[in-house]
Amino acid sequence: MSRSHTIAVLAGDGIGPEVMEQALLVLDTTAEKFGFSINQSAHLVGGAAIDATGSPLPPETVTACEKADAILFGSVGGPKWENLPPAQQPERGALLPLRKHFGLFANLRPGVCHPALTHASPVKNELIPNGFDVLCVRELTGGLYFGEPKLQEERDGETVVIDTMIYTKSEIERILHVAFKAAQGRDKRVCSVDKANVLQNSVLWRQTAEEVAKSYPDVELSHLYVDNAAMQLIRRAPDFDVLVTENLFGDILSDEMAMISGSLGMLPSASLGGQKDNGLYFGMYEPSGGSAPDIAGQGIANPVAQILSVAMLLRHSLGEEEAAKAIENAVENAISSGLRTGDIYTGSEQETKVNTAEMGAAILKAI
Ligand code: IPM
Ligand code: MG
Repeated sequence: MSRSHTIAVLAGDGIGPEVMEQALLVLDTTAEKFGFSINQSAHLVGGAAIDATGSPLPPETVTACEKADAILFGSVGGPKWENLPPAQQPERGALLPLRKHFGLFANLRPGVCHPALTHASPVKNELIPNGFDVLCVRELTGGLYFGEPKLQEERDGETVVIDTMIYTKSEIERILHVAFKAAQGRDKRVCSVDKANVLQNSVLWRQTAEEVAKSYPDVELSHLYVDNAAMQLIRRAPDFDVLVTENLFGDILSDEMAMISGSLGMLPSASLGGQKDNGLYFGMYEPSGGSAPDIAGQGIANPVAQILSVAMLLRHSLGEEEAAKAIENAVENAISSGLRTGDIYTGSEQETKVNTAEMGAAILKAI
């Protein structure tokens, strides 16, 4: 019997639906070529869901995701919904509940500056002559984002706000294991980022990193304070392999990394829950960039981040490693042959400017 997988497709807002269309074409072709079938169903999320149902994450969307092996997510948000109260906005009202509901504690954000695309990076090219390839492993369901109490109240005639940074040791351990395992498949170096000179949280984080490192003698562990890490990434990104850090630090550093890679439209991400008995993870896969409302609807967005998100989904949630590699190679092919969407186009002679559908078609053909 041929292998069969179920995924929930949440395209969302802005460029989400346009890039998703290309990603699904790539998924279909890959499935056919590698002999498995995909049951996919599309569901509302974000601003599109607010418009249709009043909620950024309707219950039927959650139910559909529960029945799936993985979620393929586009992007959410846009100017139309910006003035809603924060908790009802598409980003916060959909992403955070999805992460919490499915226990997606491990956020993998590759920060890759392709050697052929260093010109697109805002970092001086002499600092990244061959680009760079850093994997940011961000803890995604703990820390300041979800800690209780979280409140605003009046105390002695003064308004007071509280967010709570809280981690259990086991939460720290499990994300560190993800980082060390990832490093074993790469350059075997983990840099743990904290603020151990100030935060109690970070003191435990650093100590736990040292302990977990003992189970991975082949991996080298180093530590950086988060403020210093922010600087070092700009000065010497190629020196890093895997970065691991808590939720808020990871939010900020992964954006910095995406910016210096110069090609936000190229970067996928994975948010994984616990490992199942078969070694696979339930996960949600999405481009690192946002909904890009400024270019939505024009058919010019870069579909590569969404397409590479499919590759990560195939690898981590469906166990279709060969298919994942085929997609990654096809993207590599399209970039090497000079195809460029507007975000990575410089006008040089070796480059051909293409739109969303043309980039998708070139990648399909390479598969
Ligand atoms: C991200 C985003 C989210 C986060 C926001 C939209 C809640 O910035 O995925 O990095 O802070 O995690
Ligand atoms: Mg962010």
